[in-house]
Amino acid sequence: MPLPSRSFIATIEDMRVLAEKRVPRMFYDYADSGSWTESTYRANEADLQKIRFRQRVARNMENRNIATTMVGIPAAMPVALAPTGLTGMQHADGEILAAQAAEAFGVPFTLSTMSICSIEDVAAHTTKPFWFQLYVMRDRDFIERLIDRAKAANCSALMLTLDLQILGQRHKDLRNGLTAPPRLTLPNLLNLATKPAWCYQMLRTGRRTFRNIVGHAKGVGDLSSLSSWTAEQFDPRLSWDDVEWIKKRWGGKLILKGILDPEDARLAADTGADALIVSNHGGRQLDGAMSAISMLPRIVDAVDSKIEVWMDSGIRSGQDILRAVALGARGTLIGRAFLYGLGAGGREGVTKALQILANELDVTMALCGHRDIHDIDRDILVPGTYPTA
Ligand code: GLV
Repeated sequence: MPLPSRSFIATIEDMRVLAEKRVPRMFYDYADSGSWTESTYRANEADLQKIRFRQRVARNMENRNIATTMVGIPAAMPVALAPTGLTGMQHADGEILAAQAAEAFGVPFTLSTMSICSIEDVAAHTTKPFWFQLYVMRDRDFIERLIDRAKAANCSALMLTLDLQILGQRHKDLRNGLTAPPRLTLPNLLNLATKPAWCYQMLRTGRRTFRNIVGHAKGVGDLSSLSSWTAEQFDPRLSWDDVEWIKKRWGGKLILKGILDPEDARLAADTGADALIVSNHGGRQLDGAMSAISMLPRIVDAVDSKIEVWMDSGIRSGQDILRAVALGARGTLIGRAFLYGLGAGGREGVTKALQILANELDVTMALCGHRDIHDIDRDILVPGTYPTA
């Protein structure tokens, strides 16, 4: 589904508006919502907006560089695509299309455990290694097999999510009766009838359920068993000891996702992992938690360069990426910002979203008087407008 030729798209918000029109309600809502009152979801964006740049002039702004590395892996800008569940429901074959767009653009793509397209399928449709995100489930055999499958698919990093042992409640998902594929109830059918391009693409693909799980986990043969299986499977007993055995089993680059407290950050650094991601899961877990950007300086301070620190939750523009980098993030992850692009226009939409972010980042960095992303620090920000340690 290409972007509509007549629509003018200049921002991620333009993409969001278009995605809302094109993606069935339950999947748009799934991506777009936060947990409970959504106060943390809103704070993520609002706290980024409060941070002001110092405008600098008459400095050479020619020949700029926004390329960097994340855990030693090249990135055309300090951005990776976050692991997002049900990406293949925003658009048919969504994980494959997003991975292809990321690969062509030169930024890392992370495949979620809860993806629609499987690890093997994404590997078969891309040429460079991608990253795999792991949820820890009670069924440890299944986890071991997932890790081995990610290795066999040549994934270049494992991203372990630590902030979803128990699911935060998202009211809209309950109200919409979220399932993949959607149940053919009357309200769903009425909504699907208004999304013909989405339906057409979805009918043409065979990828319509969680293909990392169905056929791989014991006792999951069909959709009805899948929904109860996932609800029961996230392991509430997850501990730092588990991080250790996962690290050992994987044996490669390890990224810990979902750190929001300096004490946890120190424990994460002690594991010897390669990076941690300051994140509140896009405001989808603990409603009432601090925004990610407000905790970033404290966490950078706490780990004292022992581990790369990245940030996600709230990034909607190149300016936001620069704000995070200025406060010490080596990289950022985008979730909704690319999902809106995917829903709006498939692979082309993801590419467009990445182009928008790169352009905003590049020009903003220049207007702050800098030419290289590696020279960016809090000196580009107006004191008193940004959080500190
Ligand atoms: C899972 O990652 C979710 O936030 O729904």
